[in-house]
Amino acid sequence: MLTGKRILLVIGGGIAAYKVLELIRRLRDRGAAVTPVLTRAGAEFVTPLSVAALAGEKVHDQLFDLTTEAEMGHIQLSRSADLIVVAPATADLMAKAAQGRAEDLASTLLLATDTPVMMVPAMNVRMWQHPATQRNLAVLRGDEVRLVGPDDGAMACGEFGPGRMAEPAAILAAIEAAFTAGPLAGRHVLVTSGPTHEPIDPVRYIANRSSGAQGTALAAALRDLGAKVTFVTGPASVPPPAGVDVVRVETARDMLAAVQAALPADAAVFAAAVADWRVANAAGQKMKKDGSGRAPALEFAENPDILATVSRMGAGRPGLVVGFAAETETVVAHATAKRARKGCDWIVANDVSPETGIMGGAENAVVLISDQGAETWPRLAKDEVARRLAARIAAALGTA
Ligand code: C5P
Repeated sequence: MLTGKRILLVIGGGIAAYKVLELIRRLRDRGAAVTPVLTRAGAEFVTPLSVAALAGEKVHDQLFDLTTEAEMGHIQLSRSADLIVVAPATADLMAKAAQGRAEDLASTLLLATDTPVMMVPAMNVRMWQHPATQRNLAVLRGDEVRLVGPDDGAMACGEFGPGRMAEPAAILAAIEAAFTAGPLAGRHVLVTSGPTHEPIDPVRYIANRSSGAQGTALAAALRDLGAKVTFVTGPASVPPPAGVDVVRVETARDMLAAVQAALPADAAVFAAAVADWRVANAAGQKMKKDGSGRAPALEFAENPDILATVSRMGAGRPGLVVGFAAETETVVAHATAKRARKGCDWIVANDVSPETGIMGGAENAVVLISDQGAETWPRLAKDEVARRLAARIAAALGTA
């Protein structure tokens, strides 16, 4: 229920605005109070009369409204809410919010507030995919704006793809989740992610193909359950999630130091693809061809095993230590042996043979190995694997 919660609902100008009328009704059914703000473009799609009738409150649409300024003011309007929801969040509203513009009531409210903001994007697929919108989206994520959708599907403009506004039920669920203290509230979880870079000389390095996608999704899922997340990441190709403490590292040895500095933690998940070896004879200066035709010989030294080191800590060991195992054959047997060798509690094993498309892809098919044996999960989006794993971690810590 949302009893006692006040939602400031900014209605942008898009055909999806009609769905917002149903959202208002559902919010009120759940006990929330809704303060509607209608942009000028929004008023082209839904009328102030229907919005006001459903919300049971006056519609705000003017930045300079003398009565309101005297009674309350736009700053007060934004601060008295428990959550600001922008739906539909048009490309224009997102751009204004990302740039911090304050040229009308909606953008001014978004700039003047310290209340959490949720945006529900809706726009034509090309507008959504445009680099400018994607840049604005990255900025908004960095500003901790929560995003719901967009969905994929047929659009009113006749095109097909991402850009459809999320359905009222999904928006309502996200709003309710925003007010629920997660099961990991008050818990600290450490996540490693991404590849490591091991220098050969100041300009060259040895790396691997890890994108950091699974570790990033996991950190976001743990954050969504209320955990304080320390995210120790190598140079990954996907950006770290908002709302987590990011520690950027390059080498395995840096990663170990960052992990040790971040402890204690209630749980630690090692999703990074750490290089097993580093170049022992890395050059201090850029290596040059000497004209002899001889190639330099690289010598390797073994890197510290971060997962094994933390798993075998005596005092201060996190209550739950989870490793990943990227295998290309006999996945369960190798991963079960790895669990014993490393001393961790769980291993999340996956087959990264090139034909699976898992490494760098959007999906993952994992086997969870614990003292209970091996549990095979279906092939799922990495986000969904992350959500399930985060829920399992929450359950394990809850019973610890
Ligand atoms: O031995 P392998 O690299 O297959 O083990 C994978 C697991 O061990 C992953 O969880 C990875 O993050 C972790 N690992 C580590 N430090 C290393 C090598 C692997 O933490 N040096």
